[in-house]
Amino acid sequence: MRIDLDGRRVLVTGSAQGIGLAIARALAECGAAVVVNGRSEETSQRAAADVREHVPGADVLGVAADLATDDGTAAVLDAVPHVDVLVNNLGIFSSADPLAIDDATWRRYFEVNVLAGVRLTRAYLPGMIERGWGRVQFVGSDSAVVIPAEMIHYGVMKTALLGVSRGFAKAAAGTGVTVNSVLAGPTHTGGVEAFARELVGDDLPWDEAQRVFMREHRPQSLLQRLIEPEEIAHLVAYLASPLASATTGAAVRVDGGYIDSIVP
Ligand SMILES: NC(=O)c1ccc[n+]([C@@H]2O[C@H](COP(=O)([O-])OP(=O)(O)OC[C@H]3O[C@@H](n4cnc5c(N)ncnc54)[C@H](OP(=O)(O)O)[C@@H]3O)[C@@H](O)[C@H]2O)c1
Repeated sequence: MRIDLDGRRVLVTGSAQGIGLAIARALAECGAAVVVNGRSEETSQRAAADVREHVPGADVLGVAADLATDDGTAAVLDAVPHVDVLVNNLGIFSSADPLAIDDATWRRYFEVNVLAGVRLTRAYLPGMIERGWGRVQFVGSDSAVVIPAEMIHYGVMKTALLGVSRGFAKAAAGTGVTVNSVLAGPTHTGGVEAFARELVGDDLPWDEAQRVFMREHRPQSLLQRLIEPEEIAHLVAYLASPLASATTGAAVRVDGGYIDSIVP
């Protein structure tokens, strides 16, 4: 099998670093023309340069836009009127005492983690349907199913995305366009490494530190190490490809077995 995205235009939201950047690299490797995005010109252009360096000759565009706003969304739609693959990767997270999360924070999480992806899907899906081919993905999380006690505002938004994804898949039924969620598990991004170091300390080499972190703080993971961003990107690349034509309306896991379920 060969994942061939030659001639496809892809937008990966919130892709200036972390999982989004790994996805952008992977899709560029498969031949796609890739649009990366962060809030600032500097981070967006740095990400674009990173993808170009990783995949020489790749067609890459960096678009700076805050996708939690109407203006930011309009800027992206202006710069990129059509895409064949939309990867709604953008998502923010933080820990908080559930009883202390105020309305403004709940609204902010809804705007960034749910509505940003809904708006772009609403804008791009009709063109995909008209052209008879397209892929929409939502980067979800184990937290959608295993709501973390210290991040319920995050987990609930990821639960909502499962409904959003399934709903849009129904809207695209029978059109050649697929819509899916990718449930990522605990992943080795800068933010998660810093969080693990906070809990485990700086003394151990990283490999050992992450194993202690997993054993003590993420015991339900069957992988017992953090997932590398590229491992998430591999699944996203497959789902973005023509090979995944019969997978739609699904929540596909790349969670290291974190969700304790025999159902995919
Ligand atoms: N890390 C994990 O362990 C993990 C596990 C499961 C699921 N996930 C999910 O995977 C996705 C990516 O997570 P990550 O950890 O890779 O994220 P990250 O490292 O925190 O990166 C977030 C990215 O989003 C951009 N960004 C933030 N707010 C934005 C906005 N309003 N508009 C546009 N861009 C914005 C940031 O760039 P700027 O600062 O330049 O704006 C940055 O590039 C999220 O949906 C997350 O929930 C992560």
